[in-house]
Amino acid sequence: MNQDNQTPFWMAESFAPVVEETTATDLHVTGSIPTELNGRYFRNGANPKAHASPDWFLGEGMIHGVEIKNGEATWYRNRYVKTPLLELEAITRESTAAPENSFANTHIIGHAGKVLALQELHPPFEMTNELETVGMYSFDGKLERNMTAHPKICPETGEMLFFGYGIMPPFMTYHRVSATGELVQSEVIDVKAATMVHDFVITRNYVIFMDLPMLWDIPNLSKPGVPVKFDESYGARMGVMPRDGSSKDIKWFEIDPCYVYHTMNGYEHGDDVVIHAPRLVGYESVGMDAPPIPMLHEWKLNLKTGVKSERQLDDLGVDFPTVAETYVGLPHRYGYAAEFNAKGSPTILGFHKYDLNTGSKTSHMLKDGRIGAEPTFVAAKDASSEDDGYLMSFVYDPAEDKSELVIFNTNQIEQEPIARIHLPVRVPAGFHGSWIPDAA
Ligand SMILES: [Fe+2]
Repeated sequence: MNQDNQTPFWMAESFAPVVEETTATDLHVTGSIPTELNGRYFRNGANPKAHASPDWFLGEGMIHGVEIKNGEATWYRNRYVKTPLLELEAITRESTAAPENSFANTHIIGHAGKVLALQELHPPFEMTNELETVGMYSFDGKLERNMTAHPKICPETGEMLFFGYGIMPPFMTYHRVSATGELVQSEVIDVKAATMVHDFVITRNYVIFMDLPMLWDIPNLSKPGVPVKFDESYGARMGVMPRDGSSKDIKWFEIDPCYVYHTMNGYEHGDDVVIHAPRLVGYESVGMDAPPIPMLHEWKLNLKTGVKSERQLDDLGVDFPTVAETYVGLPHRYGYAAEFNAKGSPTILGFHKYDLNTGSKTSHMLKDGRIGAEPTFVAAKDASSEDDGYLMSFVYDPAEDKSELVIFNTNQIEQEPIARIHLPVRVPAGFHGSWIPDAA
């Protein structure tokens, strides 16, 4: 924990924003980078420009990127997503309500040749492969509103499926983008109120919406920070909709009240839709200021009988879950997640690989005070199994005050990384990233 109680955790130590935009080449590598990895690893996070920010989630987005080519790390660069917000003197609720004034700080993804920086209350911002900002992106004028930071890309069809939620009606809208990047469907989804919906789930035939009791506190919207409140009386449910369906086609399932920031994956098994995600319960006792610890959970929603079942899969505090990008929406055996510090600032202590068939996990806990970031799975070329691939993450070394991009062999995550790409600077703790391979 930071010793100075006046400084919030996201402005101190490994979380503190960096001041400079750096470009570095000739990166030193320990180990060897697989030559089949050609592309860029990009990661987004809040990097408050004004050195003051009312919440971890409310700082201007900065992307940290490493390009890899033919077994070498060709560059590192970090760049702000240059939205008009960066030019404002002060950030207010009113100013950030404008679509173009995006924090653009949560995720960065690649789809149909576009690189998009995402923040859930705003439309995407397009970036170049060199992290220059192109501008707000609207899918040829078809997306007029915000887009979740957690769209899902179907490995079978290449479609990108996502939603945007509204603090004002409509409270939820679903969108489907073709493999070539055309927005082909938008549907308003009927929900009762404005809730904070951070992520969702796809399966081969369905999308699953989470309608959970984390409500926007409308009378207190102008309060600093993120004015949401957990209110169990709202109920909690998951809605299963055919990918090309509409609100009237949704089968809703009441579930035990909880919150879910991030989902690991979902898939169909017989008449069941199976969902795995770290789940948070107990907001009533701990309150909003000390959020409960997420633990991996499973929901089974039977589309024939309408019956749901659910169970906790593990009692470890993990988040930032993921699966192989080639298994999104498909039956998966393995999942990966980061272990967070149980107390104090949410630093990442290590990585876990879950084997959901056996209920076991293998782990890589970081040593010597090193701090991890979100792990990203990259399948091996011609992968021979679901877990044949690489796990990438930034790791911060406090002794050097610098970061590395590390690459693990996912068959051996308990071992040392196969490559450590040494960066000349620190990459602050942040949110989500993607491996964006060179176009085939
Ligand atoms: Fe997220």
